[in-house]
Order: sequence, then structure tokens, then C-alpha cells
Amino acid sequence: MKGTLEGTVALVTGASSGIGAATAVALAEQGAAVAVAARRRDRLDALAAGLREQGGTVLVLEADITDGQQAAGAVQRTVDELGRLDTLINNAGVMLLGPAATAPLSEWQRMVELNVLGLLYCAHAAVPHLLRAAGQGPRQVADMVNISSVAGRVARNGSGVYNLTKHGVGAFSESLRQELATRYVRVALVEPGATATELAGHNRPEILEGMRGQFGQWMEAGDIADAIRYIVTRPRHMAVNEMLIRPTEQER
Ligand SMILES: NC(=O)c1ccc[n+]([C@@H]2O[C@H](COP(=O)([O-])OP(=O)(O)OC[C@H]3O[C@@H](n4cnc5c(N)ncnc54)[C@H](OP(=O)(O)O)[C@@H]3O)[C@@H](O)[C@H]2O)c1
Repeated sequence: MKGTLEGTVALVTGASSGIGAATAVALAEQGAAVAVAARRRDRLDALAAGLREQGGTVLVLEADITDGQQAAGAVQRTVDELGRLDTLINNAGVMLLGPAATAPLSEWQRMVELNVLGLLYCAHAAVPHLLRAAGQGPRQVADMVNISSVAGRVARNGSGVYNLTKHGVGAFSESLRQELATRYVRVALVEPGATATELAGHNRPEILEGMRGQFGQWMEAGDIADAIRYIVTRPRHMAVNEMLIRPTEQER
């Protein structure tokens, strides 16, 4: 596959479904060698087989990134086996909604462990490699794209801890962006609205029932992947810092 990202290596977390899987495809289509990380190996293998059939280079990484060692190991294996790391897409996330008063504490823990700590483990391990790639890479620039949400902009009744995690991702991203800007590691924040993926399906049945009909229009995972592709294929002198993307009919 040939494109703007030829000669570069990207790591996508949460690539076994939804936005992550679509992003892995989009980056491979631009010529990047892609490392795909998640827990469901069968899904990753199927994704990799499809991309290899089209001439793509893919590394499958079965990893639970809430474990700091596995997250750092995924980054290290990417560099060891694909030679470098130019692009990190911090995408893996979970959204568990419902009233705080009756929420199981385990749901809050799952969101903080994945959306915050998992992202931080990957970012921490990746930054030295991204700095090296920006210094020596074919494009002389590297990218970290952190996937937040509309929920990272506005807090709402019933999504407090998800809001907390995504607001945190926004704050960390902006701080890191300022720190790395002059060294040509671009840090971008993507904030999708309703996108048809498996995300909502992890909620308890009674919460799911309440969510039904809440959203009229949905975007496709490919719509968000297209935005990420746009961000990471910009010329070296241009950085897209933040993208808020809603379905046209989504008001809030
Ligand atoms: N869909 C939306 O409407 C929407 C809106 C705003 C923001 N977002 C954000 O978009 C991102 C992607 O979500 P999605 O909508 O594409 O949902 P999804 O289809 O449920 O994808 C989530 C991905 O995260 C992976 N994951 C979960 N736990 C993991 C762990 N412990 N270690 C490694 N990977 C793990 C899952 O793979 P495994 O289960 O195989 O590990 C899966 O690949 C999330 O950060 C989400 O908050 C989504």
C-alpha cells in the first residue's frame, strides 16, 4: 500500500473493533506498517489477514493495556519488530453510564483503568520513540492522537466518571502538546459524538434500555478514522490540535 505514511509505523490500541479497527485500515491504506493491539486476538488476526491480503504490513499484539507492563510491552514489540514508532493512536476505551448513586464501583474502576491509566501507560512508553521518529523519520514529524469524546467537553447527568476520564484525556493531551510541539511530535485530541460501534454494548441491560432512542443519527467508525487519517497526514508545519465531530443531527 502506498501513500503519505509510507516508511512509517503506527500503533493503534483498541484495534479489534469500532474506531480502532477502522483507523488501522485507514493508516495501512496510507502506507503505514500497523501494529494492532487489543485483548481479542481472533478479531485482530482477522483484521490483519484482510490488510495483508492488500499488501499491508501488520503486527498483531494481544495485550490488556490496563496492565502497565503489557502496555509498555506492546510499544516495545512494535519498535522491535517493525523498527520504529511514528504514530500512536490512543483509542482503547470503555463507556459505562448510569446514575452514580447506584453504580457498581467496579465500573468506575474499569473506566479509569482503561481510559486514563491505559492511555497513560501507552503514552509514557511511546514518547521517547515518537521523539526519535520526529528526529530521524522519513517525515520528520510524529503523531500521538488521543481519542476523547464529546463527553470530554461537556459533563452530563449519568455519565460522570466517563466525563471525568475524557476530560482528563483532554487536559493531558493539551499539556503534552505544548511540551512536545517544538520537537515535532504533534499531539491531537479527537472528540467523537455518537458513532456506531460496540461501545454502548458493555453497559448493564437496564442502562442500555434507557439509552435506546437517545441518539437519532450515528456516524460510522470509518468517519472518525477518516478524521484521524487527515490529522496524521498533514504536512510537517501543520498540526491539527483538536477535532470535535458529531453526527449532523446531534444537538448536544
Ligand atoms: N462510539 C462512540 O460513540 C464514541 C464516542 C466518543 C468517543 N468514543 C471513544 O472511541 C474509542 C473507541 O471506542 P469504540 O466506539 O470504537 O468502541 P469499541 O468498538 O467498544 O472499541 C473499544 C476497543 O477497546 C479495546 N479494549 C477494551 N479494553 C481493553 C483493554 N483492557 N486493553 C486493550 N484494549 C482494550 C477493545 O478490544 P478488546 O475488547 O478486544 O480488548 C476494542 O477494540 C473509545 O476511547 C471511546 O471512548 C466512542
